[in-house]
Amino acid sequence: LDNGLGLRPAMGFNTWNAFRTNIDEKSIRATADLIVSMGLRDAGYVYLNLDDGWSERNRTADGRLAANKARFPSGIKALADYVHGKGLKFGIYGDAGSMTCAKYPGSLGYEEVDAQTFAEWGVDYLKYDNCYAKQEQWVIDRYAAMRDALNATGRPILYSLCDWGVADPWLWASEIGNSWRTTEDIEPRWESILKILDYNTGLARFARKGAWNDPDMLEVGNGQLTSGEQRAHFSLWALMKAPLLIGADLRTIHPDSLAILKAREVIAVNQDDLGVAGDLIWMQGANRVYAVPLAGGGRAVVFLNLHTTGGQYLTSNITVYWGQLGLPAGRSALVRDLFAEQDLGEHTGSFTAAVQAHDVVVVRIMPVGGVQGDTWRPW
Ligand code: GLA
Repeated sequence: LDNGLGLRPAMGFNTWNAFRTNIDEKSIRATADLIVSMGLRDAGYVYLNLDDGWSERNRTADGRLAANKARFPSGIKALADYVHGKGLKFGIYGDAGSMTCAKYPGSLGYEEVDAQTFAEWGVDYLKYDNCYAKQEQWVIDRYAAMRDALNATGRPILYSLCDWGVADPWLWASEIGNSWRTTEDIEPRWESILKILDYNTGLARFARKGAWNDPDMLEVGNGQLTSGEQRAHFSLWALMKAPLLIGADLRTIHPDSLAILKAREVIAVNQDDLGVAGDLIWMQGANRVYAVPLAGGGRAVVFLNLHTTGGQYLTSNITVYWGQLGLPAGRSALVRDLFAEQDLGEHTGSFTAAVQAHDVVVVRIMPVGGVQGDTWRPW
């Protein structure tokens, strides 16, 4: 959506994956404090977004949405002020049907008054869900109505469509919102992450600045994911130009997970100026290569090893050839490991990574002398 927002994928925190509807103003303030003290704000995670469960079960007498009195006694405006005071932006959640997925009031038919309420509260980001709408209430109309209502407030509010259950949103949603969900809800399991990853293959071409595919929020730090699996999840979401929304409880997050979320050279791939989304470029058996072009002619490459067998099969050697990346075969290029933040020397024509099972190696390949007339040929 050309509203001047989301020119890079949004980065922040959302309450759903960690807390579900068990949210209150105390824990949100604590999260805001932690985002700052843990260095996450300075790493780029500037949105603090409430998900479902923040409101009363009913609208007020004058038809407005209201904060849940027991859990948000100071109200949403006060909370947004607090979040803003921390140098963060504030996000909220609504629904394009009669009720949200957790059965709080939806905004269908109330788009203008709700957008106005959000703007008055100082909301900077709206995640807009798709529960409880009837088949005949066309999804594009329902989402466009809130787009127009947000626009009419005059306040810049990033508009994130949570349009799950809808066929091919990438074909229409780029005119409606700043991002659109491409799949069902993510879960903190390797199988869920792979399923969503595979579902997003081929969708990079539909993304552009201000309009991104959303393969759902991060599960880094949740469930039983290994460090390798969390690295894979994080770097592939970064490469696909997914919104990077942390979904773990920051009070208890493991230091390894925190380090993955703060991997600044991987974040830089997500936030790169060129604004092109990456995708799968090669696979054979359990080995895969994902790639994306970067501003200045470089490429970021994620080598992924899906082997589930142990012992001698653990490591894969995976090669990418410059030709696959639209770079001249004879060119030498500097290769850098983006998680390790280490140069891996100059290579000509190809680079081979040794990748552990259920893990990735993430590199940037920077042709010496840059690239004249970029020959990146995506899909
Ligand atoms: C849907 C969305 C989730 C979350 C819940 C809240 O399932 O896809 O991301 O917002 O609703 O109820």
